[in-house]
Amino acid sequence: MKLVYTIQDLQTELDKCRQLHQTIGFAPTMGALHEGHGSLMIKSVNENNITVASVFVNPTQFNDQNDLLKYPRTLEADCALLEKCGVDFVFVPDVKEMYPEEDTRQFNYAPLDSVMEGAHRPGHFNGVCQIVSKLFDAVMPDKAYFGEKDYQQLAIIKEMVRDLKYPIEIIGCPIIRESDGLALSSRNMRLSDTERENALNISQTLFKSCTFAADHSVNETLEMVKTAINNASGLELEYFEIVDGDTLQPINSWEESSTIMGCITVFCGPVRLIDNIRYK
Ligand code: PAF
Repeated sequence: MKLVYTIQDLQTELDKCRQLHQTIGFAPTMGALHEGHGSLMIKSVNENNITVASVFVNPTQFNDQNDLLKYPRTLEADCALLEKCGVDFVFVPDVKEMYPEEDTRQFNYAPLDSVMEGAHRPGHFNGVCQIVSKLFDAVMPDKAYFGEKDYQQLAIIKEMVRDLKYPIEIIGCPIIRESDGLALSSRNMRLSDTERENALNISQTLFKSCTFAADHSVNETLEMVKTAINNASGLELEYFEIVDGDTLQPINSWEESSTIMGCITVFCGPVRLIDNIRYK
């Protein structure tokens, strides 16, 4: 596995691979890697000749500077995990490499980016599209891998790829959970023992809501989840929405859509956690 720091060095390496007709898989990350990221890497390694991972904490997608400062940086451990997964190149640019000048591009994928995370983190998805498009331009992969935990991000990246006509196949990969159900997240390492215990209520409530939904309406299911989280110790609900899996717009009945997702964001102490569940 080779670490590469500049776009030029990365392209020199990848041009050699392309000359050998090798296919390239790519998984962008912000580091603080866990087995969820590992699953993206392993899928890419299995489906492509060459796998590139990037580790870059992208400043333009943080609307809260405190969150950016607190974002865990664990490059050595990240590289150990990437190497174990069989990754070939790790692209580790600095901020100047990715943003030699301010990126003033505006990506507008309403209504996908105006609900849920988009409504609560203004500018977040614009920053995500800025960096992912720059990374796509640098890597020019055949396939790119994203986790379904960030379900809305995945939908917006697919839309950006359609819009900008990137010849890249976007592959969504299932949420990886701890054995007790908590969705893996780089933010979990910031949870105290008590917060970690409290956080478990999020996935447990989502799992229960699936059974509940079988004989209750969308509205009743929404209320059930909101009440359970609001009554749980140490948790503060930011939002819970039941949405069409493609448009991400709220639905009113289970018959309305063929893919239905429940998307939740909860503060567990100071740590903001997201999770989701598929009803249909
Ligand atoms: O999902 C993430 O970790 C980030 O949003 C991404 C896609 C690496 C862009 O910075």
